[in-house]
Amino acid sequence: LENGVARTPPMGWNSWNTFGCNINETLIRQMADAIVSSGMGELGYKYVVVDDCWFNPNRDSSGNLQGDPSRFPSGMKSLGDYLHGKGLKFGIYQVPGTKTCAQGTGGYPGATGSQGHEAQDARQFAAWGVDYLKYDYCSGSGTINDQVTTFAKMRDALAATGRPIVYSINPNSFHCCTGPQRNWGDVANMWRTTEDITNKWDTGNTNGYPMGIQNIVNITVPLAGNARPGAFNDPDMMEVGRSGLSDTEQRSHFALWAMMASPLIAGNDIRSMTSATQTILKNANLLAIDQDSLALQATQVSNDGSRRVLAKKLANGDVAVALFNQSGSTTTISTSASAIGLTGSSFTLRDVWSNATSTTTGAISASVPSHGTVVYRVSRTGTPTSPPPTSTPPTSPPP
Ligand code: GLA
Repeated sequence: LENGVARTPPMGWNSWNTFGCNINETLIRQMADAIVSSGMGELGYKYVVVDDCWFNPNRDSSGNLQGDPSRFPSGMKSLGDYLHGKGLKFGIYQVPGTKTCAQGTGGYPGATGSQGHEAQDARQFAAWGVDYLKYDYCSGSGTINDQVTTFAKMRDALAATGRPIVYSINPNSFHCCTGPQRNWGDVANMWRTTEDITNKWDTGNTNGYPMGIQNIVNITVPLAGNARPGAFNDPDMMEVGRSGLSDTEQRSHFALWAMMASPLIAGNDIRSMTSATQTILKNANLLAIDQDSLALQATQVSNDGSRRVLAKKLANGDVAVALFNQSGSTTTISTSASAIGLTGSSFTLRDVWSNATSTTTGAISASVPSHGTVVYRVSRTGTPTSPPPTSTPPTSPPP
């Protein structure tokens, strides 16, 4: 979406994965403080997104949304001011229908969705200083064309406020059928590609609820052509730093999200994260790959079911390559500089985790543990060889 924001994938934190409906203004402020003190803020994790259950179940007498009075007593504008004062940005959750997901299925009271209130709610968000709207199609019915109309209505309402607001949509909350129905780049800055993520490696789902890391990767990799500045596939908020995934799996998860030019929205408790978690979320090499200005998603070079190779072109001419082991045991994964689109006679490989460099004349290979992902940033160091001729030389005209 060409609305001036999200020129690279948005980064931040969201309350849902760890806290669900159990949120309040103290928690969000503490999280903002931890994002700043951990250094994540200056690395780009800017958007602090308050997910479902922030609102008063009743609109006010003019039909305006309001924060829940007991859990957000200072009001939403005050929370936005706090975040902005920390150098962060304010994200909030809403739905296009009548009930949020928690109101529809979670027993949370009220029916405060934006249906019939789109312009009013967009103006309210802008007045609160909202910089990011997560708009979640929780209605459970409607055709794809209904979804397009509904999501476009809020896109236009946000644009009419004049405030730059990242527009993040979820067309997948049906608990029945997920996956890519269309390229949403004309409607939103980012759009979920699957049902909700969970902190498991593989739930076996191809379109159900919830989805493991491997399942989401399977669905999102083929959508690489959608990504561009202002428009990104969203494989959902991260499970890094939560239970359920091994350290190797968490590293893979983060590396694959970076390769897929995904929004990097942390979902863990930043206040109490371990140093291992910090090492993952703050990996400068992977952040640079994710945030590269070309904003291209990695494309698939090969996949034999066990060994998957992805390559992402970067703005300075380097290519990031991921060697992803989907199997249950350690294996060697190999590709080559030419297979990832580089010509030349000598290349430097930088391992994004160890920062170690090595040189190669073209072979790229690593022993990768089960569920692990080795990522190299590959730079050309040798003299480029001349490219093969792309057309036959002109022949002399017939006599
Ligand atoms: C849906 C979304 C989640 C979260 C919940 C909140 O399931 O996909 O990311 O926002 O709703 O109820």
